[in-house]
Amino acid sequence: MTARITPLIAGNWKMNGLTAALGELQRLGELLTAGTAPRCTVAVCPPATLLARVSAQVAVSGIVTGGQDCHPAQSGAHTGDISAAMLADAGAQFVIVGHSERRTDHGETDSLVHAKALAAVAAGLTPIICVGETEAQRRGGEAAAVVRRQIAASVPDEAQGIDVVIAYEPVWAIGTGLTPSLEDIRDMHGGIRAQLVERFGAAGERIRILYGGSMKPANARDILAVENVDGGLVGGASLLANDFYAIISAV
Ligand code: PGA
Repeated sequence: MTARITPLIAGNWKMNGLTAALGELQRLGELLTAGTAPRCTVAVCPPATLLARVSAQVAVSGIVTGGQDCHPAQSGAHTGDISAAMLADAGAQFVIVGHSERRTDHGETDSLVHAKALAAVAAGLTPIICVGETEAQRRGGEAAAVVRRQIAASVPDEAQGIDVVIAYEPVWAIGTGLTPSLEDIRDMHGGIRAQLVERFGAAGERIRILYGGSMKPANARDILAVENVDGGLVGGASLLANDFYAIISAV
């Protein structure tokens, strides 16, 4: 954790969630309102089809919402795409950009992610900009350099004056049950912090750096205690109210 920063726990539902998932969300809301107030901002990023309904439903429990991707343009002839303004209109406060699944499945580059982050900011959303190395890059000793390059090219200069969030998600840890050692997480997050401070000065001290990749109730407490880990981006474990609540409670 970084003192002075309000941590963020964000659930990334990915391509999961039909109307029935609203029941699980109801349960999460009940857990959150019954227990002690969470010591973090809690966000859920459902599929776009559920965003407006989820935003309306969670308002009472203090949960905020986010989209999982946005188009860099404000509007126009882009069949099937969703703009940041549409996400904001559906109640979102955040949007994930540059998730490794988008980078892999849709060939998204750092410059596209950069443009999406700016579009998010223009629409009043806080972008959660994802970076992370592959298994081969980690084995080749390139992890820190890869992440440094991704941050340099994906995070816009405007991050100096606006709210952005970085999510470090090693690709090999996503959905695999594997996580880096706490030392490796500390080193990577420390390196990201140093890079942000080098580039943005004092503003770089305030940017939230989330960890993502197989964060579970069993490991959340240890990971969240690591220096410069300011929250988590949680995939699989965010789909079950009890698991997600346990992670939120670990803050
Ligand atoms: P996971 O996904 O928690 O299921 O590993 C994290 C993510 O991809 O954001």
